[in-house]
Amino acid sequence: MPELKADIQSPENKSGYNMIEWTSPSNIALIKYWGKKEVQLPRNASLSLTLSKSMSRTRVYYKKHDSCDLAWKFLFEGKEKNSFNEKISHFLTLASSFYPELKSQELIIESSNTFPHSSGIASSASSMSALALCLLSIHEKLKASKYEPSDFWQRASGLARLGSGSASRSPIPGFGLWGKHPAVSGSSDEFAIPLPFKVHSEIAPLKDAILIVSSDKKQISSSVGHAMMETHPFAKARFEVANKNLEELLEVMKSGNRKKFISIIENEAMMLHGMMMSSDPGYFLIHPNSLKIIEQIKIFRLKTDSFITFTLDAGPNVHVLYHKKDSEQIEKFIKEKLLVFCENEKVIFDEMGKGPEKI
Ligand code: DP6
Repeated sequence: MPELKADIQSPENKSGYNMIEWTSPSNIALIKYWGKKEVQLPRNASLSLTLSKSMSRTRVYYKKHDSCDLAWKFLFEGKEKNSFNEKISHFLTLASSFYPELKSQELIIESSNTFPHSSGIASSASSMSALALCLLSIHEKLKASKYEPSDFWQRASGLARLGSGSASRSPIPGFGLWGKHPAVSGSSDEFAIPLPFKVHSEIAPLKDAILIVSSDKKQISSSVGHAMMETHPFAKARFEVANKNLEELLEVMKSGNRKKFISIIENEAMMLHGMMMSSDPGYFLIHPNSLKIIEQIKIFRLKTDSFITFTLDAGPNVHVLYHKKDSEQIEKFIKEKLLVFCENEKVIFDEMGKGPEKI
């Protein structure tokens, strides 16, 4: 594979370039992907909720160049961002091995997020998904042929996966399931699929209030966390429990059993952080205020018997999940009791979304 170059100039005048643009949402996992093998294949199946407002918007200018090496430049919110270059370089290397005609192109990638940059929200899922969609659209244009929609979305998810595992689920509207699971026909380690049934109205539509506890940069990246699972003494049990939790969660999402839904979601969130703490060396990404929020949610649920639960990403922010029809009561509680534990009272009120969009 030739060296990829990130040294092309971003011309002020983009005439002579073609352009493709996509938005893609972020997603929050309910059943966590934590541990991978080979080229971005998951150790267990995962399930996530695709969001609506937390989006990346990516525009790629492309034009043919004379060399047969891919040349590219990446701008985040209009500025060069060297800290992203390694991940993007790795992704473009993989992407161009599947879609080699991309190597004949000079690419200027411009990306931005709808959520504040310093919010501590991981943007790799939405940004890699939006970039994958742009690359796939460019591939279609260069080949002058279009994939059938189901093939296109499958390829988009598979390509996004090469950039970041969790990005494979972002192209899927509603709930995305990634990873081969015996209980779900058509499930695959290579791409995510939508749920093959309608979720019970007691469970969805769901809202997700993302409580920003801290926007500090993570001490341990997800990639390092995944790698530590390779030698984790509880890894085998974790992968088995995740697959069992997924199977049970699917049943609950069909039947509408809210209590069981809550217990599975919270078990997954706590176990993810338990895995981190029991790694060698152990580490924690959770913050004392994350625990205070969780405590308050439990007290409120006990008092009001409300359908409210939480999940955690690989970081300190708390995702509060609740049914759309309970928004008024739950959002009042969040504002009155939980924002005090957030950094500058920051919260993003998001909800289940419809997936990516071509601009
Ligand atoms: C805790 O997808 O960020 O959010 O594949 O190395 O890019 P890479 O990791 P990433 O890991 C996400 C881990 C998680 C759980 C999840 O989203 O399923």
